[in-house]
Amino acid sequence: MNILITGASRGVGYAICEVLLKQGHTIYAISRTYTDELKILEKSFKETFFFKSVDLSNSHDVQNDVFKSFVNNTIALDGFVNNAAMAYDDIITNLNLEKLETMFKTNVYSPMLLTKYAIRNMLFNKKSGSIIHISSISAHTGYKGLAMYASSKGAIESFSKNTAREWGEMGIRSNVVVPGFMETAMSATLSEQQKDRIYKRTSLKKATSVESVAETVAFLLSDKAISITGQNIHNDSGTI
Ligand SMILES: NC(=O)c1ccc[n+]([C@@H]2O[C@H](COP(=O)([O-])OP(=O)(O)OC[C@H]3O[C@@H](n4cnc5c(N)ncnc54)[C@H](OP(=O)(O)O)[C@@H]3O)[C@@H](O)[C@H]2O)c1
Repeated sequence: MNILITGASRGVGYAICEVLLKQGHTIYAISRTYTDELKILEKSFKETFFFKSVDLSNSHDVQNDVFKSFVNNTIALDGFVNNAAMAYDDIITNLNLEKLETMFKTNVYSPMLLTKYAIRNMLFNKKSGSIIHISSISAHTGYKGLAMYASSKGAIESFSKNTAREWGEMGIRSNVVVPGFMETAMSATLSEQQKDRIYKRTSLKKATSVESVAETVAFLLSDKAISITGQNIHNDSGTI
């Protein structure tokens, strides 16, 4: 399968790349930084791993940067994973419009545009593709300071459900993976005390496994999930 994935440089995106490459798929990966870890991946999977540095906060350039100069229609896409995101966290009374706009461009507008061109690519190549968005448990369970970030994830969840309705008859599926808090760069600013408080709210009393989230994405991309669309799959240590 040919799969486009954003936010590949570290964390969940990197783990998804590793799982899919080991399964033999070809990966077109995007993030701003070309990390040492990515260079290692590129060396190990010379024929099946391709990287391009793209800043997704420039939504106007997305078509050109990704679909004209990287994944054009000669590459038949089977899957698109919208994983890249930034977290602008603050209390609502401190809301800064510029920061909010940058986050929405990165977390919502560019992913919507990427979905548009990924679907066009799938239609052009007569592919029944699978689209996966990575959301966050914060869109379902409130956390102080995460209102702006959580609302960007809520937008993407609605977008996915409607994508599933709109394109299902062409065989295109769209699903969301909803992770709980994971130990990645995104959550690195949290203190141990804050993390403990978050983990106490889960059934398993621990962080969500990055590898488990990556395996869930791989499953939803595969034909094993052929009848699953329009769903939010929670992978959150049981935040119920
Ligand atoms: N960590 C958590 O606790 C948690 C919980 C629930 C959901 N999530 C979600 O899980 C997904 C992965 O997050 P993570 O924890 O792996 O975070 P992370 O370690 O901070 O990784 C974020 C990825 O997104 C990329 N990215 C950010 N801004 C970008 C931009 N403007 N243009 C292109 N790429 C950009 C980063 O690459 P560059 O910086 O190199 O561009 C990086 O590869 C995100 O959607 C996040 O919202 C995370």
